[in-house]
Amino acid sequence: MNKSEAMQKLAQYGQEHILKYYDELDSAGQEQLLRQIEETDFSVLRFLGEKEGKPRGTFTPLAAMELDEITERREEFRQKGLSAIREGKVAALMLAGGMGTRLGSENPKGMYDIGITRHVYIFQRLIENLLDVVHESGYPVHLLIMTSEKNHDATVNFLKEKQYFGYPEDRVHFFRQSMAPACGYDGKILLEGKGRIATSPNGNAGWYASMDRVGLVDFLEKEGVKWINVFAVDNVLQRIADPVYVGACETADVSVGGKVVRKAARDEKVGVICLEDGRPSIVEYYDLSDEMMDAKDAKGNPAYNFGVILNYLFQLPLLKNLTEDDLPMHVVEKKIPCLDEAGEEVHPSSPNGYKFEQLVLDMIHQLDTCLPFEVVREHEFAPIKNPTGIDSVESARELCKKNGIEL
Ligand code: UTP
Repeated sequence: MNKSEAMQKLAQYGQEHILKYYDELDSAGQEQLLRQIEETDFSVLRFLGEKEGKPRGTFTPLAAMELDEITERREEFRQKGLSAIREGKVAALMLAGGMGTRLGSENPKGMYDIGITRHVYIFQRLIENLLDVVHESGYPVHLLIMTSEKNHDATVNFLKEKQYFGYPEDRVHFFRQSMAPACGYDGKILLEGKGRIATSPNGNAGWYASMDRVGLVDFLEKEGVKWINVFAVDNVLQRIADPVYVGACETADVSVGGKVVRKAARDEKVGVICLEDGRPSIVEYYDLSDEMMDAKDAKGNPAYNFGVILNYLFQLPLLKNLTEDDLPMHVVEKKIPCLDEAGEEVHPSSPNGYKFEQLVLDMIHQLDTCLPFEVVREHEFAPIKNPTGIDSVESARELCKKNGIEL
């Protein structure tokens, strides 16, 4: 793309200011900026008018498979899950493209060391958990790792240096998620530097399209993968490619499974799994009405009692027809480092604009059936979002200790 083509593209969206410093850049800088303009999808700006999102449908409860049933049928599910794993039907996908701003580390979140007397990196904890299943099944499931342009090199170099914490290198596949431009409150795209648009990862639903773009969906299909276990990088206790969970989803023959925990309080800040207009859906805690919080099921238990922990088992082939246009766009206020009017770098201490994200939890609503699968919170849910307090390094360390993990 040359300068006049770039100007034409920008003019369509009223973003000509992006070329403000073009003449000050050296030729390599100019080329990079033109490439970024060519590759950036400015059409996301249309969502600025829809910040409130679309109106939601009618919510009704969706029964979870609860612990007592899982305990009773554990061996049956485990055997079924192990067979699926041994047949190569299961892959694991770590979502590690996020910025981890709340944790505030310079490095990718997975490089964070939660150890006390020895090194225990978040990546290490997750890979060790997956290795348990590899040893149990005798089959090295493919492990995909989604990074973003912001943390790709650091992630790849770190895991390589650590020899993938014992995971077979040829079963690890990295891919980068796409980026979305960020804009100020006036809808003008922000510049990160004189030759660079401010961008951020396009949300954790970006995984399918980004994986597809580099041929990894085709690769997994050829390998015979049916289930892909999508999980967050920050829950250091989670079980990955858990045979019991796989077996339960196979048996129920659902489109997607979601690991859930029983809510600790009626207003706990977790997304609740339910039906929306008869289809599976996740309703965020801030959309949960008092009426829903207090609703009871036939047994007298809270009807919306299970929160998601970002561990889903998707039937991969069913996602083929799903496009980015099917998912809602979340327009989120954030602190975005950028250049000010005078061309000086600013690192704002309060939000100064919007980022655009699509979320994996919205993918559930695109599918026909879902199995909410209950897990024991203290054994499987130790997310690290903050350095201290709730969902923090501190709370995760406590939970690791309770589970006999030496730190
Ligand atoms: P979070 O919602 O916790 O976001 O991501 P984050 O970016 O990691 O952290 P904060 O909000 O800036 O503090 C949940 C999971 O989704 C991944 C994250 O890496 C984490 O595993 N994620 C999030 C992506 O892979 N890509 C994204 O664009 C956003």
